[in-house]
Amino acid sequence: MSYFEQIDKEKLPSHVAIIMDGNGRWAKSHGQERIFGHFNGVEAVRASLKAATRAGIPYLTLYAFSTENWNRPKEEVEALMNLLVETIINEIDELDRNGVRLCAIGDTDQLPDACRTQLFRGIERTRSNAKVSLILALNYSARWEIVNAVKTIGRSGISEEKIDADLVSNSLTTRDFPDPELLIRTSGEHRVSNFLLWQIAYTELYFTDTLWPDFNEEEFYKAVVDFQHRERRFGKTSEQISPSAQTDKVR
Ligand code: FPP
Repeated sequence: MSYFEQIDKEKLPSHVAIIMDGNGRWAKSHGQERIFGHFNGVEAVRASLKAATRAGIPYLTLYAFSTENWNRPKEEVEALMNLLVETIINEIDELDRNGVRLCAIGDTDQLPDACRTQLFRGIERTRSNAKVSLILALNYSARWEIVNAVKTIGRSGISEEKIDADLVSNSLTTRDFPDPELLIRTSGEHRVSNFLLWQIAYTELYFTDTLWPDFNEEEFYKAVVDFQHRERRFGKTSEQISPSAQTDKVR
């Protein structure tokens, strides 16, 4: 039975976030330059979006460029930015046709002009689509986002006793989206790398050795099926979650 067939439609995560990793290693294993891996990574982006749409998952966030990625060789940064611009130009018609709403989180003001222009054109054009939100994390880092939220709250002059978790959540760039329920990282690395640190407080983490360009639809469904077998307790006991459970599993 395929992983798609194993998915329980009643227990879908509402939001899947992905740290796309391993493009450079994939390229090297094919005897090519790193950017060849990024080019092929676009196919995996397409596959994941298709999988999320087909399964009925309404939010998909992809870590496309972190604030730390500026430290990569200049040619690689330029190539990544060009790839982003070209991908938006090439894909926007199909995204729109398929009911995809393009969104972005991160410090987008610092992106190159061409990138911002295409990104905001795409966001504007797909603004009223409702099937799936594709959220690109661009020039994003969670610490940048949290520092910004703290500054916003400080500037607002709100009294200390009114500051709570909801206020912080609503001051983040992700305020319009639910927290991810599943975070996937490819390429065998077991880190969260400054991604959505506030939002993943109760998120299930899924790590796979598959390098990003090889991550296909079935791999996505496999992660969803794995998620559906987890017991999500949010700090409670097994018995509170499912009264018939006899044993209290280790947290
Ligand atoms: C990580 O692999 C990948 C990135 C930093 C960039 C991801 C970009 C894409 C998949 C292409 C464009 C994306 C969109 C949304 C159009 P790595 O280079 O860190 O790989 P390594 O760890 O093997 O070196």
